[in-house]
This record gives sequence, C-alpha cells and structure tokens, in this order.
Amino acid sequence: MLLLPLTLMIFVILLYGYKSTRKPRHFPPGPSWWPFLGCAPQVQLLRKKTGHLLLATSKLARKYGPVIGLKVGGELVVVVHGAEAVREFLANDDLSGRPNTSLYTFRSWGKRLGIVMTDGDFWAEQRRFLVRHLRDFGFGTTNMSTLLEEESQELVKYLQRCINESEAVVNMHSLFSTPILNTLWRMLAGVRYDTDDPKLAELHEILADMLKQVSMVGKTFAAFPFLRYLAPEASGYNLYMDAHRRLTDFLYKEVDDHKQTYDPEYPRDVMDLYLTVINGNAKLQNSTFSEQQLIITCMDMFMAGSETTSNTLSFCFLYLVLYPEVQKKAQEEIDRVLGRERVPTLSDKHKLKYVECVIWESLRMFVGRGFTLPHRSIRDTELCGYFIPKDVKIVGNFYDSLLGDQCAIEDPMEFRPERYLKDGEVVVPDAIMAFGVGKRRCIGDALAKGNLFLFVTVLLQRFNFSVPPNASPPSTDWEDGLTPRPKPFQVVVCER
Ligand code: HEM
Repeated sequence: MLLLPLTLMIFVILLYGYKSTRKPRHFPPGPSWWPFLGCAPQVQLLRKKTGHLLLATSKLARKYGPVIGLKVGGELVVVVHGAEAVREFLANDDLSGRPNTSLYTFRSWGKRLGIVMTDGDFWAEQRRFLVRHLRDFGFGTTNMSTLLEEESQELVKYLQRCINESEAVVNMHSLFSTPILNTLWRMLAGVRYDTDDPKLAELHEILADMLKQVSMVGKTFAAFPFLRYLAPEASGYNLYMDAHRRLTDFLYKEVDDHKQTYDPEYPRDVMDLYLTVINGNAKLQNSTFSEQQLIITCMDMFMAGSETTSNTLSFCFLYLVLYPEVQKKAQEEIDRVLGRERVPTLSDKHKLKYVECVIWESLRMFVGRGFTLPHRSIRDTELCGYFIPKDVKIVGNFYDSLLGDQCAIEDPMEFRPERYLKDGEVVVPDAIMAFGVGKRRCIGDALAKGNLFLFVTVLLQRFNFSVPPNASPPSTDWEDGLTPRPKPFQVVVCER
C-alpha cells in the first residue's frame, strides 16, 4: 500500500534534484551544480583555501571569465568581475532591483522596508524624499561643513587627552566609529553624543553586534531558510534577530522622544520631517511613509554610512603608518597650505590635492576588498552577452579591477597617492567606482567625502602616526563583515 506513494515521492525528489542541477540557457558559466546544494560546496572550499569569498570568486573568474553564474542552495547568483563588466552591470536599469530574500524582511516585521534593500516605486519615492531632505538638513552644504569641523576637532581633543606625556598607543581600527556615527546621527535625528555618554556606548555595542550579523558573505539561514526552525542558534538566526531587535528598540525610543517635542512648523531634522509627512498622510491608503519605514530607513543609514566611512579611515591610517613617506608628504602639503594652527574647513579641499589623492588611494584599498551591495534582475536581461533571468541575485567584485594582479592599475598593492596626480590635477580612473554607478549610486557621498577629507587633514596637521616600537608592521589582510575592515591594529600617536 505504501509502496506506490513512497516510489512517487522518491521519483519527485529525484526529478527535483536533477532539475536543480540544470542551468538556464546562455546563463554565465561557472562550476557545476550539485542537486539541492548548487555549487555552494565548491565555493565554500575555495573560500577556505583563499581566506575570503572575494578571492574565491576572483579565482573562479580566472577560469570562467568576468561574469560567473553560481547557485547557492536554491538561489541563482551572478558575480561580476573587472571594471568594464562591473560598470555595464551597475549601469543596467534591469539589474537595479534588490534581492527579495528573507534575510532583509526578517529584520522588518516581514515587510520590505527602508532604502537599501527595497526597489520599485516604493524605493523610488523614499529615496527621492531622503535625498531631498538630507540636503535641506545640511548634506553638501555649509551646515554640514560646520558640523564635520566640530566633530573632527572633538577627535583632536580626544587624542590630546589620550596623550598624557609625549605619546599614546591607540587602537586605530576603532578610533573613528564614534565621530562618524555622530555626524550621521546629528543629520538624521539631531542627536550628538559625548565620547563618554553611556547611550553612545549602548548604540555602539548594538551596531557592532548588528553589523557582525549582516555580513556580505551571507548567512547560512538565508541560503537555507528552513535552518531557522531546525537550528536557530547554530545557523546564526537568533543572533541576527536579537541584534536587529535591540536596534529597532533603540530607534523607537528616539522616535518617541521626537514625537513628544516636535513642531510640524519647525522641523529640526530629517526625523521630524518624516513624522510630519506620516501625520499628514495618516488617512492615505498605500502611503509609503510609516513609523516602521522611518525606523528601518535609520537602520539603513547606519548600516550604509557608518562602517563604510570609518573603515575607509582605518585603511587610510593603516597605510599611512606603513608608508611614512606618504604621511610626511601629506603633512608638508598641509603645513604649506594651512600651517599648524588654522583649523581646516571643507573649502580647503581643492587646495590640498595630495591629501585628496591619499583619500582616493584609501578608498581604493577599502572598496577593492569588497563586493557591491547585492542587486536583483527585475526582468529578463543580458549582461556581457549572457542571459540573466528575472529575479537573479547579482553582485560586483571590486578586487579584480582595483587590487588584483590583472587590474589596469600599476603595482596595485602599493599605496601610491601620486598615481592620481596628472599635471597638478587629481584624475581618478573610471575603474574606481567607489560610490557606485547608476540608479543605486550612494546617496551619502558628500557626507562621506567631507568626513574623509576633514578627519585625515585635521589629524595629520596635529599628529604623527607610527608603528609601535618592537611591534611588527600591521597586516594589510582584512576581516569580512558588511564591509571589509583592517584586522585590529595599534599605532603610536604623538603631537607634532
Ligand atoms: C566611504 C564611504 C562610503 C562608500 C565607499 C559608499 C559606497 C556606496 C556604494 C558603492 C553604493 C552603491 C551600492 C550598489 O551599487 O548597490 C552605496 C549605496 C548607498 N549608500 Fe553609500 N558609501 C559610503 C558612505 C555612505 C554614507 C555616509 C551614507 C549615508 C549618509 C551612505 C548611504 C548609502 C545608501 C542609503 C545607499 C543605498 C542607495 C540605494 O540603494 O538606493 N553611504 N554606497
């Protein structure tokens, strides 16, 4: 009696297993797909061998070409390598969606919310609103300049306090997270924390935990969602959810504070403005504005804006201690243009061309160690002559175009800011798409560039940075997270 259903079940499983190994026609080449697992085992093996997922897919690109087609669990994934192919990918509107996977809805009450992981009309309206009003509250304006100048001076004071005699040994990889968080949070919610404020420590801890959980390398429970029921602890699901819950609680408290004190006639920050729109639209059905959307947008801004900038600064100072001659040259330029006393402002940027080159070289070192954010094909399309069906996840690998031995940049592992100076002007090669290209381009580049310029200039004007005596030079290897970061390192800081 049981034989027939059992045989049928085995037949269906075998058929499904066989079908899961078949690739769509003209899909980008890549390793063969095993039943149910796709090529996850081969990629995982390569990742173990090379130490990073980024290097694993680069290795596959050597064999299969710049556009490779993978399957991880049940998900089709295309990884794009090399400047030309990555630019073609980012400029293709058909590839401008975001994956609609449970990883990005678990955090937001089962809905697709926020800016970074949404798409379609919802995303377009929300992005437009945010870009417009971030500008009202200072993005790219003199307000922003004043705010960044204040924060960079706070960092100088902090380092001066650390230096009790002539020098201090500082954890450089974590020095920038507080000031960068402050610049971002001041624009969004008008809040500034002092370095020793316990609320800041709380926010830091929550964010660090969350960012650890949202790695670009992927979560086991995202590729195999049933694992969140079978092994919620071991698959990382519980940790992921807990970190997000703590951040949403923190943000809800801030929204409540705003609700108690805000005046719709005089919005103080982006959060006030958002609340005004929510109240105005309260009766509208299908409004894309809601308190939940506000919370997840803030979360997105933290995720997109804090680590990116502070990790670029960490890479910058890592290379400045490894290349003391570069540090000296930048300091000489600062001395020549500003002297030791005048506080730098954003308007000095165009006069400090070598410093600007140091920043571009640091961005190359940071961006070149990572992927783009994941995209999704919103309809069937073509990329570099291959067929990309609708709903495929697609990411760009920046290693090959910025750091790999086949990239168009001379001696790519060398930190050489001069490479951008052409006849006294700063010329950045097209391959360095540090802030992306096309519809999903970064919306925070003005703030990021402003922060990078002021923090580097202010610190080099006041301090010397070097490898601690008797310590080995810090490693240029990196840790994977949501974005790449240097392995923890210390430097000696002394006043000039
Ligand atoms: C060094 C600092 C930064 C770098 C290198 C950087 C880089 C990028 C890149 C490459 C993208 C596009 C990814 C893609 O193609 O999907 C992006 C998107 C984004 N960035 Fe940035 N970013 C930085 C700082 C910031 C800051 C400070 C903010 C916020 C104030 C921010 C907010 C965003 C947002 C919201 C998106 C998503 C846009 C969308 O999906 O429509 N970023 N960023």
